[in-house]
Amino acid sequence: MIISVINKKGGVGKTPFAFSIAKDLGYFLQSNDNSIIEQIYPQKAKILLTPKKIDNCVYDFGGFVEKGILEIVKESDYIIVPCTSDYNSLLRTLETLNEIGNSNKVCILVTDYRDDKEKNQICETLDSNFTDLNLFFFKFSKIIRNSTSSGASFTELYNENNLSRLSYTNFFNEYQKLLSFITKEK
Ligand SMILES: Nc1ncnc2c1ncn2[C@@H]1O[C@H](COP(=O)(O)OP(=O)(O)OP(=O)(O)O)[C@@H](O)[C@H]1O
Ligand SMILES: [Mg+2]
Repeated sequence: MIISVINKKGGVGKTPFAFSIAKDLGYFLQSNDNSIIEQIYPQKAKILLTPKKIDNCVYDFGGFVEKGILEIVKESDYIIVPCTSDYNSLLRTLETLNEIGNSNKVCILVTDYRDDKEKNQICETLDSNFTDLNLFFFKFSKIIRNSTSSGASFTELYNENNLSRLSYTNFFNEYQKLLSFITKEK
């Protein structure tokens, strides 16, 4: 199985989600964008200008969508698109969705919002442009930064102790839904 995490917009959480999903599934991780992944996920993570298509791999695609990348995206079993609430992120997300095309393989992560107002704004913009989107909701959480700074996946961070289980409950429940969605039999 291959999974692409993509959005032309930077700073939406592509790397933390790609890293965590890869680690939790025991998959390889490749990226065309500079980040900490090779240090926090040694042996399994590689940064390559032109990523190679291999099985059991999560791709963290930042920046420009060039031909080789679009090919891997098109052949992915699932395409994960994180989107934050700022105007620029929404515009870039719509551009990204137009390029890759919406299908049942695409999962939009509505993420990094602080309240329902922000959440609804994102949903309204997405829904007015596309129908039948698979949406997952990740309210702002420190788990995102903690994951790439500690090298622990979201599951590992959640399971650290009682306090982390309490703090990360909502985020983790939604993350489990996402994991079940992408690992279910087709
Ligand atoms: N639920 C969330 N809670 C907190 N931060 C979040 C959440 N979802 C997304 N983020 C964003 O994740 C960012 C950190 O991820 P990072 O900057 O590595 O994303 P990226 O999309 O990989 O960026 P780049 O394209 O620059 O590599 C934070 O700046 C924050 O805005
Ligand atoms: Mg990144």
